[in-house]
Amino acid sequence: MDLQLQNKVAIVTGASKGIGLAVVTALAQEGVRVVAASRGQGAELSELAERYAVQPVAVDLSTADGPAKLVESAIAKFGRVDILINNVGGTHMQAGFLSISDEDWYRTFDMDVMSTVRASRAVLPHMLEHRSGVIINISSVNAHLPVTQIMDYCAIKAALTNLSKALAEEFGPQGVRVNTVSPGTVLTPQWDAEGGNADLIGTALGMDRETVLSQLPKMNNMTINRLIQPAEVAAIVAFLASEHAAAIVGADYIVDGGTLKAVI
Ligand SMILES: NC(=O)c1ccc[n+]([C@@H]2O[C@H](COP(=O)([O-])OP(=O)(O)OC[C@H]3O[C@@H](n4cnc5c(N)ncnc54)[C@H](OP(=O)(O)O)[C@@H]3O)[C@@H](O)[C@H]2O)c1
Repeated sequence: MDLQLQNKVAIVTGASKGIGLAVVTALAQEGVRVVAASRGQGAELSELAERYAVQPVAVDLSTADGPAKLVESAIAKFGRVDILINNVGGTHMQAGFLSISDEDWYRTFDMDVMSTVRASRAVLPHMLEHRSGVIINISSVNAHLPVTQIMDYCAIKAALTNLSKALAEEFGPQGVRVNTVSPGTVLTPQWDAEGGNADLIGTALGMDRETVLSQLPKMNNMTINRLIQPAEVAAIVAFLASEHAAAIVGADYIVDGGTLKAVI
């Protein structure tokens, strides 16, 4: 299917690794000009920038002015922004509710909600002026599935999904479509990097990283019995960004390999 995204301009946050990197790859392969935002760049993003119209931007999106600066730099470079993918975010595994400090709650909120609020606030006037735009927020299966070790993350992703629905309702009539994609367990550095979630679980359970990763699908009730690849999340993001999805507004696409067992 030709997604007809050639020459569109997209901003992807959290772009140097994992799901963000896969989204940059998918959009760039469709001919989208991508502004790829993260603090560091990394070899894979540098390689994409050499092959495609990908512009890496170094920015800390947890700061008050980072997202607006990012949007300004994209408009200065390309004159417009058609697509915003708010992907940056993540978990910090804890022992449980009593281990989560105020600082943890605020840090997760800044990364997972305020980065989206600020980037959307910066890009919306521009999209509304053109009466056209797509915003896709990367939430999580945990917006629907609270887990005690990441209670802050679960509650905050639920807020992000709820916010996205309200944004879709407010701005849909003016030509801006907002949707969420909610992944389950995706094999990214968040899981398999040194000191990542697999190591943290491994320390608690007395297992090495590889053993944890091999057992994760079972631990997380995944019907497909394997971890999700970042490209499998990116595929639905690219589709939602396209005009083929013009009637999809305020939806939440769950890509969880069958973790959620209830009808929601
Ligand atoms: N992986 C999963 O199983 C899973 C499941 C459900 C939902 N999700 C969601 O999917 C999104 C991406 O997750 P992921 O697993 O792909 O994450 P990841 O592998 O940890 O990658 C995170 C990306 O964000 C960037 N980043 C981190 N802090 C940043 C900051 N302050 N400013 C700018 N960029 C920053 C990182 O690059 P730098 O370090 O260079 O800045 C990196 O490019 C998150 O919202 C996450 O909650 C993931």
